[in-house]
Amino acid sequence: MTRGLFISFEGIDGAGKSTHIERVAALFRQAGRPVVLTREPGGTPLSEKLRELVLHDPMDALTEALLMFAARREHLVQVIEPALARGDVVLCDRFTDATFAYQGGGRGFDWQVLAQLESMVQTTAQGALRQPDLTVWFDLDPQIAAERLASARVPDKFESQPADFFAAVRAGYARRQEEMPSRFARIDAAQSREAVGDDVALVVTSWYSRTPT
Ligand code: TMP
Repeated sequence: MTRGLFISFEGIDGAGKSTHIERVAALFRQAGRPVVLTREPGGTPLSEKLRELVLHDPMDALTEALLMFAARREHLVQVIEPALARGDVVLCDRFTDATFAYQGGGRGFDWQVLAQLESMVQTTAQGALRQPDLTVWFDLDPQIAAERLASARVPDKFESQPADFFAAVRAGYARRQEEMPSRFARIDAAQSREAVGDDVALVVTSWYSRTPT
């Protein structure tokens, strides 16, 4: 049976990742692979309700981290694990690296506590720690991201944070990459949209060609 694949897409707000996920989905569909496109926080009816709360209501840092992991647990159990068991390709717009980057880096919440929650929430029925097989990290200078966001939508709780918050979030992503370099692919998101899209397609196709199915 074909092995399921789990790919996450990460970056600070304004890095432009969401526009490129569709192209990756098209690549896998062309290769004959069923694709599940999903996002965090969200991806199930309950997790989407938690998303609304966590993106708009002010709350304590631990509450925020717990709600992110609660939404993730539900998403894993209801959507991600069944899809991987079927052999699908799961493309997830953000996953746990976002919690380390935003709650750990941005908010300064304890990294080790996040690691404990990660282990509690992501340990599979077989006892392994579920992580993405590949994480595409759209890395961008927070000043450029802020300029891009200024002309976009009405900001949510995170998007309206100052540039130094996003500098800390970016540092959080860099720390995660240092901790788990083998699954990370860094994309220079300061390039034109076309160049970023081409880099993403190249990274994903070359990774896929090396991945046992
Ligand atoms: P999105 O706008 O890319 O869908 O992401 C929603 C926001 O939630 C974004 O500002 C990042 C934030 N976030 C966290 O703070 N922690 C998390 O664990 C996740 C998944 C997202």
